[in-house]
Amino acid sequence: MNQQITYPYIVKILQNYISPNDKVLEIGCGAKQYREYLPKSEYYGLDLPQSSYVDEAPDYPCSAEDMPVENESFDCIFGVATFYLHGDPDRTFRECYRALKPGGRFIVFDYKQSLLKKIKTDKRYTHVQTWGASELSNRLSLAGFSEDGLQNISGMVDYWDYPSAVRLLVRSIKRLLGLEVSNWLIIYAEKK
Ligand SMILES: C[S@@+](CC[C@H](N)C(=O)[O-])C[C@H]1O[C@@H](n2cnc3c(N)ncnc32)[C@H](O)[C@@H]1O
Repeated sequence: MNQQITYPYIVKILQNYISPNDKVLEIGCGAKQYREYLPKSEYYGLDLPQSSYVDEAPDYPCSAEDMPVENESFDCIFGVATFYLHGDPDRTFRECYRALKPGGRFIVFDYKQSLLKKIKTDKRYTHVQTWGASELSNRLSLAGFSEDGLQNISGMVDYWDYPSAVRLLVRSIKRLLGLEVSNWLIIYAEKK
């Protein structure tokens, strides 16, 4: 079993944006650890067939840059810590846009630019993307997502990863000290 971390705030964000009976596709699904938190959805996972993160065969063993799925067939598509690794992420984003139904939701859980830049200094990861929120949003709009449907929801991690009593205090102290509130860059997009 490939141990992967399941982040409670990612679960909460997913449950906030995914409705029961939604048809959902997780890109770069690895061990599909978020599937069990979406029990009422029709969940499908997509990952590279050779991925070392995969425990069971993905429903779609392929690259997200070329997905064998019907046009306008999913209500929600998301991916956690995957898009920055894709060889041609713009192609992936166009594929996600194509595969979403009108009104469908796309959630990118990626890392903040400061962390991506650190990752890129490792010689195994020189190919990774180092986008920030505005570049990532721009790439999503070039893939078809309209700008008024794009939201930077990274702050939802800040909102959810502490118990409510200490949340405001911790957030304020971190901001005062100039510390990152979290390492996540999370962009929500809608297909109009
Ligand atoms: C860091 S792991 C994250 C796995 C899982 N999402 C998680 O949160 O634990 C990145 C995943 O993205 C997958 N991946 C990388 N490039 C991909 C591509 N072009 N298409 C689909 N999946 C890809 C990898 O195979 C790997 O399973």
